Amino acid sequence: MSSRVVLAYSGGLDTSVAIGWITEATGAEVIAMAADVGQGGEDLEAVRQRALDCGAVASEVVDLRTEFAEQYCLPALRANALYLDRYPLVSALSRPLISAHLVDAARRHGADTVAHGCTGKGNDQVRFEVSIAALAPDLHVYAPVRDSGMTRDKAIAFAEEKGLPIDVTHSSPFSVDQNLWGRAVETGFLEDIWNAPTEEVYAYTSDPGAPRPPDEVVIGFERGVPVAIDGAAVTVLQAIEALNRRAGAQGVGRIDMVEDRLVGIKSREVYEAPGAIALINAHMELENVTVERELARFKRGVEQRWAELVYDGLWFSPLRSSLQAFIDSAQESVTGEVRMRLHAGQATVTGRRSEQSLYRFDLATYDSGDTYDQSQARGFIEVFGMTTKLAAQRDRRQ
Ligand code: ARG
Repeated sequence: MSSRVVLAYSGGLDTSVAIGWITEATGAEVIAMAADVGQGGEDLEAVRQRALDCGAVASEVVDLRTEFAEQYCLPALRANALYLDRYPLVSALSRPLISAHLVDAARRHGADTVAHGCTGKGNDQVRFEVSIAALAPDLHVYAPVRDSGMTRDKAIAFAEEKGLPIDVTHSSPFSVDQNLWGRAVETGFLEDIWNAPTEEVYAYTSDPGAPRPPDEVVIGFERGVPVAIDGAAVTVLQAIEALNRRAGAQGVGRIDMVEDRLVGIKSREVYEAPGAIALINAHMELENVTVERELARFKRGVEQRWAELVYDGLWFSPLRSSLQAFIDSAQESVTGEVRMRLHAGQATVTGRRSEQSLYRFDLATYDSGDTYDQSQARGFIEVFGMTTKLAAQRDRRQ
């Protein structure tokens, strides 16, 4: 019996060619697995059929939308996760999930190898392979683009020679990865980092500069989980979908940045993540109101480390899981509502209310009703500033 390979299949040129390429290079049978992580766009039944037409012995589409929303996007939201303070980890979040299901498919189909279409220059190869190694150390990994010279030119030639049912000439000039949490666009004219992105680059967001009336939304959270939009109960998946639509329509969540890849390369990335950015803004503000200061300060450092680990492909690492336990426990009081104005590319908080609020009007007010004893501030400052004052006095003497 020939060996079997489960391929992470997108329906695009590279992974479609990879099916026949892998069989020619290794003699293995290929099983295609496409994941629905909320990327929208093409009908996934057509994608499933295309894999068979390209020579896969079996092809399946797994609907991972709810699992992605609840087990991956939600932890990222609770961590306010932004790599380099800006990128909400769109691709980095989907890879460990897809890897887990590739492993599952490999088990079900008796495959000993998992294949993916990543190049050798990016982060995604690392994320797939470290995740697979953590979950199934016995499985082999094969990456035809990286490991057996399946360049773009060769892929196009292969597709034409075999008459594969893929539209080679209309394939996008960009490399795009998109899911429920956002969309990443790279390559093409964006590789000149002075070139501004044009409107064609974007698909999840409308032009933030176009004139339109603002949209106001109230997001309800319970223990750091978004549970209501404008008072109506929603699942996490529905919350993200609703905000992708509404914040996207206002041009919220466009990000144009040069980022540090794990492999040491700086690369230009254009992202759009309207739902993620709106939700993170709202969640951060509810934390400002409900999380005690020392816990909040410490959490900020944890958030950054969490984002770096996930970016670096270490989702299934012991440190990520321990930091996760901390983050989850810090969500205990994060219950309440945030009102936001979505407009002109911004998701701006305009109101917050919570039964868990630590905001005390009677302490904060400058008007009547003040219960704060200002006379105590003098002594506090005297003691608090002592160490700095002593050091400054010494330095002036010297
Ligand atoms: N640079 C981003 C990351 O590493 C996005 C990668 C997306 N992949 C793609 N084929 N465009 O998370």
